Amino acid sequence: MVNEQLKKSDKMTTKAIKPRKPVFLDTNSLSWLPWVMEGTWFKLLNVDMKTGGYSMLLKVDPDNYAPVHGHLGAVEGMILEGEFGYDDDRGGNMHYVWEAAGAVHQPDSPGGFTMFAVLHSPLMGYNDDGSIAAVVDGKMMYIMARDGGEADHLEVDYPELD
Ligand SMILES: [Fe+2]
Repeated sequence: MVNEQLKKSDKMTTKAIKPRKPVFLDTNSLSWLPWVMEGTWFKLLNVDMKTGGYSMLLKVDPDNYAPVHGHLGAVEGMILEGEFGYDDDRGGNMHYVWEAAGAVHQPDSPGGFTMFAVLHSPLMGYNDDGSIAAVVDGKMMYIMARDGGEADHLEVDYPELD
């Protein structure tokens, strides 16, 4: 059991390894691109080639009423500005949000919000009859970001992608 905080030591034999590439990305250098629902905007930060998930900044305009959507895998996020919620279950500035795999819900945000989100797998939109209208996965996100000129920071190797 560890009962002391880790401390810097001159006797440490494990040396830090300098990464080959920068580990930071200034998201201010990316432009907001229109996302899959009207009045929503995204900056794609990363994609997960294994799960179809992705990490993004999401901005939702005020008075936006998103359609019902579903999650194949969990979503984790941090609200950076504004607030949104599901009825009386709501989060604001610096609130952490966890949406479980299998969630089907309809958020509302009268004032709009900006959040950092990690989608552990794709999300789904539905037609009126309940059939699936769209599967928003990492590949689709990458294509949208690339076509918007905001994917140069990403290294991906999707099959059948020029
Ligand atoms: Fe959701």
